[in-house]
Amino acid sequence: MPKTPTPADHFTFGLWTVGWTGNDPFGAPTRAALDPVEAVQKLADLGAYGVTFHDDDLIPFGSSNQDRELILKRFRSAIQEAGLKVPMITTNLFSHPVFKDGGFTSNDRSVRRFALRKVLRNLDLAAELGAETFVMWGGREGAEYDGSKDFAAAFDRMKEGVDTAAGYIKDQGYNLRIALEPKPNEPRGDIFLPTVGHALAFIAELEHGDIVGLNPETGHEQMAGLNYTHGLAQALWAGKLFHIDLNGQKSIKYDQDLVFGHGDLTSAFFTVDLLENGFPGGGPVYEGPRHFDYKPSRTDGYDGVWDSAAANMSMYLLLKERAQAFRADPEVREALETSGVYELGQPTLAAGETAAALIADPAAYEEFDAEAAAQRSFAFVRLNQLALEHLLGAR
Ligand code: GCO
Ligand code: MN
Ligand code: MN
Repeated sequence: MPKTPTPADHFTFGLWTVGWTGNDPFGAPTRAALDPVEAVQKLADLGAYGVTFHDDDLIPFGSSNQDRELILKRFRSAIQEAGLKVPMITTNLFSHPVFKDGGFTSNDRSVRRFALRKVLRNLDLAAELGAETFVMWGGREGAEYDGSKDFAAAFDRMKEGVDTAAGYIKDQGYNLRIALEPKPNEPRGDIFLPTVGHALAFIAELEHGDIVGLNPETGHEQMAGLNYTHGLAQALWAGKLFHIDLNGQKSIKYDQDLVFGHGDLTSAFFTVDLLENGFPGGGPVYEGPRHFDYKPSRTDGYDGVWDSAAANMSMYLLLKERAQAFRADPEVREALETSGVYELGQPTLAAGETAAALIADPAAYEEFDAEAAAQRSFAFVRLNQLALEHLLGAR
């Protein structure tokens, strides 16, 4: 049976997701535009907790201040009436042609100044709406031709942009953190900060890196042939998992933005297992919203839009139920034990043991029987089969 969510599940959606009208590089929109106020009402009816948006999703690029105020007034009353939160907002630095060579890293300095102003203005809005996360997806920050960019200068400008925004957050005393969203390519041939790993390394170079973390997206890691759950795990371990974009992707190809679980289902199971149950041996847990960044297929009408929005939440809750059953199963616990999963939590050195003490311990090396230790079966296949049987509801 499908699952019906409640706001306590903390599911959130971008206005640009259900609001995508189906225009792609090969064809015109297949659906009429959706009024953000209607999106808010529908999402609330479906049991969502909140909505997120790019400035331009709500307030068309170039709107006058007066129009902006009117739009925001109408939106504020819609979310109040629907009881929805706005936990995250983000800035569109990719749609308008002015951003064709990027925002923070455009070769044109005047564009970079405009982009930064657009971000600062949007930070004020984020704080005003009570958002806690400000996502930065640099879709146009990149290149098609390696000779067209001074890469070191581009990283300097990216750092300047992020640090200026983070410094502004601190100066204003806003309760906001920045979450960088990696993506390997599309729309640029190659995008800067293509993966979770690149973004983590970049954050370590920032002046205000303490309030900068990540917003990893399922499909983006998978487009790079990487394992999303591993990326989430490393971000979590580093204290940097500030937000997530859940969706579905089938292998290395264009950004499909399918419903969560409609891509690699096994991977989605382990993603939910990590998000809901944490690491087997404890450690940091993710507490932010369960945010969907997907596109309702352009083959479908508005029936399909709302069905797919509900499907994301139902898939997550079904996987949550399966993942909880997986962890609670005594046979699984025994298999985890046999496979050494808990043993990995034991430090390799004894408390206070030094490298010198390890060298002096003949049991660790001179007397260690490598041939005998090599005989150990980790029985990972049995463990994985148990996981898949739980995923299939066969246990
Ligand atoms: C994409 C991205 C975007 C971002 C959004 C938030 O591939 O198009 O995932 O949807 O998540 O712009 O900044
Ligand atoms: Mn995407
Ligand atoms: Mn995204």
